[in-house]
Amino acid sequence: MSKIHFIVLAAGNGTRMKSVLPKVMHTVAGLPLIGHVLKSSRDYFKKYSTQEAEGRTCVVVGSDDSLISDFIISQDSNIIVAIQERQKGTADAVKSALQEMNSHIKPQDSIMVLFGDTPLIRPETISQVADAIKNTEILVAGMVPPDVKSYGRLVCDTSGALECIVEDKHATVDQKKITFCNSGIMAFKGGGLKNCLPNIELQKESGEYYLTDAVIVAKKAGLSVQALRVPFEDTEGINTRLELSIAEARYQKMRRKQTMLLGVTMVSPETVFFYHDTIVEKDVFLEPNVFFGSKVRVKSGATIKAYSHIEGSLIENNAVIGPFARLRPGTIVGECAKVGNFVEIKNSTLSKGAKVSHLSYVGDASIGEKANIGAGTITCNYDGFLKHRTTIGVGAFIGSNTCLIAPVTIGDNAIIGASSTISKDVDDDALALSRVPQKNFEKKAPQIRAIKKQKKSAMKVGK
Ligand code: UD1
Ligand code: MG
Repeated sequence: MSKIHFIVLAAGNGTRMKSVLPKVMHTVAGLPLIGHVLKSSRDYFKKYSTQEAEGRTCVVVGSDDSLISDFIISQDSNIIVAIQERQKGTADAVKSALQEMNSHIKPQDSIMVLFGDTPLIRPETISQVADAIKNTEILVAGMVPPDVKSYGRLVCDTSGALECIVEDKHATVDQKKITFCNSGIMAFKGGGLKNCLPNIELQKESGEYYLTDAVIVAKKAGLSVQALRVPFEDTEGINTRLELSIAEARYQKMRRKQTMLLGVTMVSPETVFFYHDTIVEKDVFLEPNVFFGSKVRVKSGATIKAYSHIEGSLIENNAVIGPFARLRPGTIVGECAKVGNFVEIKNSTLSKGAKVSHLSYVGDASIGEKANIGAGTITCNYDGFLKHRTTIGVGAFIGSNTCLIAPVTIGDNAIIGASSTISKDVDDDALALSRVPQKNFEKKAPQIRAIKKQKKSAMKVGK
C-alpha cells in the first residue's frame, strides 16, 4: 500500500511580518499558524485517507527556530523536524526535509508540500490534492484569489496545460495579468520529487531555489505535471500582519457559521470570538460581544450574556454567565449556577445552583450547592507570597461586602452578616458577624447640619 507523506515548510525569514516572533508562530484563534496546518493534515488522515497509509510528516525550520521545533514536538512527538541552515528558497527547504525522510519514502508514495504560512487549509482540500496526485507525477494546487497580490502565477498553454510557474517579481506585464495563482501546495510522486529536486537551478536575482521550478524541470524530463484548482478561501498565504488579520476574520466567520449550524443561538455572531479549541454545545445562547480564550467548554442550555470574557473554564448545563463576567482558568460553573455582572472567578468551583450575582472576586474557592454569595464579596486568596483556598458549604449565605480571608472554611447553611471580615472558620448552621456595632444618636442630624452650614459661610467670608 502506498503512503502519503507531508512536508511543511516553516523556515522562511518572514521579514514582511516585521516581528521578532517567527512568522509561523503568529496565531489565528490562539493557535500558531503551523499548528493549524499540522491539525489539518492529521484530520485528513482521520477523515479521508482510506486508500493510502499514513506516512511521515516533516516540518522544515531554520537553525535558530527552537521555538517552532518545541511547539511542533509538543503537538506530536512523531513529527520529524528538519533544519534548513540558510534560507535559500522553498526547493532548498524541501531538500532539507528529504535528507531526513529519504529512508521513509518509496517511489510509489506521494509527498504533499504544505506551507506553514497557509493556516486555513482544510482536510477536504488536502484530500482533493491527495486524490489528484494519483494520476500524475507532479501536481500544483492553484487558486483564483480576488486580489493576486504577490502570488506566483500558473502559466498555462492554450489547451489549459500547465507550462510553468512564474513568481510575481519575475513576471512580465502579460504574465501579471494571469489570475490563476500558485497556492503553494504541491504534491509529488516519491520518484518524481527525487528526480527533479537536484535539477532545480538557482534563481540568480533572488539567490533562491524555487520549488515552483520543479514544473519546468519535470516537463523537460518528460514527467507528467497537472494543475488542480482548489478554493481560494483556505489557501490564502500570510506574509504580513494585515493578511494575518484577514485570516483571523475568515477563521472566525467559519467557526461562527459552524457553531450556529450545530444548534447554538448567536444574537450578533460577528461580535463573538472563538479560540481554536472552544467547545460550545447545542442550545447554548450567546449574547453579543463574548470572547472565548483557550480551553473553554460550554454545555447545552447555558447562556452567556453580553461582554463576557471566558478562558480555561467549564460551564455546565443551564448555567447563566454575565453580562460583564470574567471567568479565568480553572473555573467550573455548575449546572444552573449563576455568575452575574462584574464578577471575576479564577480556579474555583461553583456547585449546582450556586449564585455569585454581582461585583465579586472569587479566587481559589469551592462553593457548595445553592450557596449565595452577596454583592461585593472578595475571597482574599493571596497574602503576597502564597495562595490559599476558601471553602463555602452547601446553602451558605454570604452577606454583601464580605471579605473571606483564606484559608477559611464556611460551613453548610452558615450565614455571614453583610460587611464582615471573616478570618476564622465558621461551623455549619452558624451565624458569623464581624462588623463594628452600630450606634444611633437621636435628633443629632439637624445639629450636624447647622455646624456644617456655619463653617461653610465662615469660609466664604474669608475669601
Ligand atoms: C510562495 C510561492 C508562490 C505562492 C505563495 C503562496 C515559491 C517560490 N513561491 O511565495 O508561488 O504563490 O507562496 O502563498 O514557492 N520557506 C522555507 N525556506 C525558505 C523559504 C521559504 O521554509 O528558504 C517557507 C516559508 O516559511 C513559508 C513558505 O516556505 O512557509 C513560503 O515562503 P514565502 O517566503 O512565504 O513565499 P511567498 O513569497 O509567499
Ligand atoms: Mg508566503
